[in-house]
Order: sequence, then C-alpha cells, then structure tokens
Amino acid sequence: MRSMTETRPDSPSAANQLWGGRFARGPAAIMERINASIGFDQRLAAQDIAGSKAHAAMLADCGIISRDDAGKIQEGLDRIAEEIARGDFEFKTELEDIHMNVEARLAELIGEPAGRLHTARSRNDQVATDFRLWVRDAIDRLDAGLAGLQEALIQQAEAHADTVMPGYTHLQTAQPVTFGHHLLAYVEMFGRDRGRFRDARARLNECPLGSAALAGTSFPIDREATASALGFDRPTANSLDAVSDRDFALEYLSAASIAAVHLSRFAEEIVLWCTDPFGFVRLSDAFTTGSSIMPQKKNPDAAELVRAKAGRVIGALNGLLVTMKGLPLAYSKDMQEDKEPVFETDDTLALTIAAATGMVRDLSPRRERMRAATERGFITATDLADWLVRVLGLPFRQAHHVTGRIVRLAEEKDCRLDQLDLEAMRGVEPRITAAIFDVLGVDASVASRTSLGGTAPDNVRRAAAAARERFL
Ligand code: ARG
Repeated sequence: MRSMTETRPDSPSAANQLWGGRFARGPAAIMERINASIGFDQRLAAQDIAGSKAHAAMLADCGIISRDDAGKIQEGLDRIAEEIARGDFEFKTELEDIHMNVEARLAELIGEPAGRLHTARSRNDQVATDFRLWVRDAIDRLDAGLAGLQEALIQQAEAHADTVMPGYTHLQTAQPVTFGHHLLAYVEMFGRDRGRFRDARARLNECPLGSAALAGTSFPIDREATASALGFDRPTANSLDAVSDRDFALEYLSAASIAAVHLSRFAEEIVLWCTDPFGFVRLSDAFTTGSSIMPQKKNPDAAELVRAKAGRVIGALNGLLVTMKGLPLAYSKDMQEDKEPVFETDDTLALTIAAATGMVRDLSPRRERMRAATERGFITATDLADWLVRVLGLPFRQAHHVTGRIVRLAEEKDCRLDQLDLEAMRGVEPRITAAIFDVLGVDASVASRTSLGGTAPDNVRRAAAAARERFL
C-alpha cells in the first residue's frame, strides 16, 4: 500500500486523464483523499446525467457537435444511468467526483465522442446545475412529506375539536383550549414551512449551465434551450454569480432549520404529554421503547430523537454559512463542502417528518386526564373578569383586580372558581349575580372563544375544513 504522502509513479497513465496534458504525475494519496467528493456526490448522478443529456442535445442543435456524436453521447449516458440504477457502476475515488466518473465511463463506452461533451462547459457550471436540480427535487419530496404530516394533524384535530385541555403560557395553566385547536397551530407552522421551501424553490429555479468556468463561453450555445429542457424557469443572468452562488443551498437549509425547530417543539410537547404528571396522550408500543432495567417504562424515544435531530439541521446551516462567508468570486473548492450538509439535512428532515407523522397517527389523547388538568389553576379566571366587564360594565383593569381577589378566596378554600358560593364572591363585588356561573365552566369558556382564530369547537371544525382546502 502507498503511504498517504507518497505520490503516484511518474507515468502518463498515472496523471489525470482529464488534465494529464499539464501534469506529469498523479496526486499524493492524501491529496486524492482530501480532494475526492465521489463518496457523497454520487447522489447527484441522476441530475448530472440529465444535465449532460440536455447539454449534448443543445450542442448538436447549435451545430457545435455533430448529431452523430450527440446520439452516441445520449446512448452512452442512458447506459450509465442504467448501470448506476442496477448498482453495477464502479465509482472511483481517483476520478474525484461524479462529473469525472460519468465522463470517464462514457469514454470507455463510446470512445472519442465522449471527449466532445465537455465543450462549452466546466465542472463549475455543471455542479451548480446538478446541485440546484437536486435541491429542487428534495424540496418537492419534503413538501409532500410536510403535507402528509399536516393531513395527520388535521385528522386528529377534527376528531378532537371539542376535547378540552389546559392552554399554557410560561407552561403555567392559562385558559382552556381544545386539543384540536392546539394541533391546528402546528398545521399553520408546517404550512409556513412549506411556503418557505416554495419560495426558495422559485428563486433557485434558474439554470447555471453555459456559465462555463466563470466567464461564459465563446461557443454559440443556447442557454434558453438547456434551461427549459431541465425544467428551469430561465438561465442565470451572470456567469460569475452562477458558478459561485450557493445561497439556494443556504435558503434550503434555513427553511429546513425552521421546519426542524417546529418539529422539535412538537416533539417536546409529545414528550411532556406522555409524562406521568401530564398524561395527556398515550403512544402505543409501536412508538415507544422499554427500559432494560425499569420494567414499567415506556419511553417516547421517537419524539426525543425528532427533538434532538433539529441540532444536526441547524448545525448544517451554520456550517455552510461559515464555509461560504469568506469566499471571493468565483468558484473555490471550498464549495465542494456544500453537499454533505444538504444531503444530511434532507435525510434527517425526511426521517423526522415521517416519524412525527407516525406519532400523530399513533397517539391517543386521554380526554379525562386533559379535562382533569383544566380543573386546576383557576383556569376560567379570565372568563370571570370578562363577565364583570360585559355585565357590570367594569373597566377591564378593575375587573382584573376583583377577579384576583376572588381567585385568592378559591385558593384559600382550595376549590375551583365554579365551586365558590355566590355570597363569597359578593363579599368581593356585591353586584355579582348567579349568572356568573354560566361562564365559570371549562366548556362554556372554550365555546365562548368564537373570535376569528379562536379555540371554540365550532371554530376548530371550520378551521380544520379550511386547512384541508388551503394545504391539502
Ligand atoms: N466536485 C466539485 C464540487 O463539488 C466539482 C467542481 C470542481 N471544479 C473545479 N474547478 N475543480 O465542487
């Protein structure tokens, strides 16, 4: 075995077949290792082949290569695509990256015409094109995944439009809400996540191909043709920008990070809801694990991992931001480091979205536990204050004060607000009548929250139907 710093022997065949003209010998083994991206950029194979096919067809249409050569190139590329799909394509580290692996194999298959494919093109515009195509596909897959998650949430929301639970601020009991309303909050978040991916997709959908190394090309190419063949809206406008812009990847990672944060917050709530003190939902055996020592345990590991994996995604965004921040125009090899964070993010997000969807479908809310939790914390105190404003005409600030004193009474007696007797309340505010009891119950409270976007069960049913229209 060659040591890592040893160079390849002096022989023309050891020098690179693509730039062997200028080079007498091959790279040091360590150079090959740090330089190669084939270990990960083989995930761009389908996009690379699609880009090459569009490029070859355009070159022939513009009279830059012969139809005959273009035909051989197309056939060769199709064969390579089949070999890769079958898993019998041999990716070689010494050929550095996906672009050179494909081109070298094409040369083996069709000989001389393979050498004409790279006319009016560079790996710089090639990789920028491939990667945009890949991110575009990734966005489309994630959009479908997020829509599936929304659908699962909407379904549970419909089933639990009138299941009451405590709503919290500061994780302190605040006002009663419905479980359906709570789930629909996440439907909104994931809807905005999809919107952010859609926005990123619209901006990235310009084709760098034909920008060549950095300056454009002297060949009479037709960039509109390759752009439209690859489903782009238009060619990029500036060749320097086209080969060195990675903000499409950064936007993807930004949108992914925000989505991962939403998934993580939801996962955190599942973890809380599964704890003994909350006990609001149950996950089945399918989405929990046991303990090797404590026989009673059912741990919500999937939720914990969805929560944890947001760290990777945010790390990927930070990593690529830092990689890009000091780079002058145009291409630098630093940019080869753009792919792994994006691939890892895509894998992570696809996995966590699927796991979250599975948990939403799996979870069963424990209505009685949720209702019991609304019986603590004087949860209808705001309803009492609102009654004082509405019926007695008190300014809200004063109503707040009166209610505070009534809450203190209930605290002293260790009872709920609706268990206080009228006389006790009248001791604080003599004008209070028995009608107050109409608003002190939890069901009355949620039913009264009919303002647009509020938690009333009828609202929730309408909101769920509207969400189906808007998102699915
Ligand atoms: N593997 C390279 C990358 O991912 C392709 C572009 C190489 N360009 C170059 N001038 N060396 O960035």
